[in-house]
Amino acid sequence: MDAQPGTYGYTRAACTILTHLVCTIFTILITVLSRPGSSLFSWHPFLMTLAFSFFMTEAILVFSPHGSHFRMFPHKSKGRLHWVLQCLGLACAALGFVAIVYNKHLAGKAHFTSWHGLTGLVTVCVVGIQCLAAVSLIYPSLVKGWSLAKLKRYHAAAGLLTYLLGGGSLFLGVSSVWFTASVGELAWYLTALCPVLSSLVIMSQVSNAYMAKKRLQS
Ligand code: HEM
Repeated sequence: MDAQPGTYGYTRAACTILTHLVCTIFTILITVLSRPGSSLFSWHPFLMTLAFSFFMTEAILVFSPHGSHFRMFPHKSKGRLHWVLQCLGLACAALGFVAIVYNKHLAGKAHFTSWHGLTGLVTVCVVGIQCLAAVSLIYPSLVKGWSLAKLKRYHAAAGLLTYLLGGGSLFLGVSSVWFTASVGELAWYLTALCPVLSSLVIMSQVSNAYMAKKRLQS
């Protein structure tokens, strides 16, 4: 991603910094409310928020030319940091998923009966597939007939879709009875804005980078 000068560059830098802040504050808020370790359920909102709001957002923003802590790093180091953060996110998402499924199993409740549960299941599966497919970026020879540039473009487009699914699942998660009862209506409006806002900023950043790469290659 190339940095643009002037008002446009400053606006994008401000949006990136706001996203760092919003996602970190959102993660802290859910951690405080869920009190990880207080019950088996408490690990679910905590780990899922850590995975999608913190690790995955930071993993994408590593490449941002505006407002990233690592913009001076060589591209190779940013790539490494990106996959380390994504692996941490994947590990948290897998543990958070196991926690809620086992918790429901112990309570004798039916699985994947709500919109949040269904979207969450799809999100976790898509994240797993996206991470598996990303191995081809480290070993491009695994995929015959596809250039690295093409693989990177598909990875960015699929990654954006995965991130939006994660944002959607978080939004539905904070709309659950458990969460709305914990924080009340006004705080819900403020909290629910967090995944929506970060999804919008990431969408604009990734689609800009995607278009810039396509222009360069054509
Ligand atoms: C992207 C993040 C998230 C994903 C992928 C996700 C995934 C899931 C899945 C798959 C289930 C259903 C498990 C089953 O039926 O066996 C579930 C249930 C649940 N989740 Fe999440 N979750 C996420 C974030 C959150 C957050 C942030 C909260 C709370 C603030 C939350 C609260 C709940 C609650 C209360 C349930 C039980 C009720 C239900 O099944 O809808 N989740 N989640």
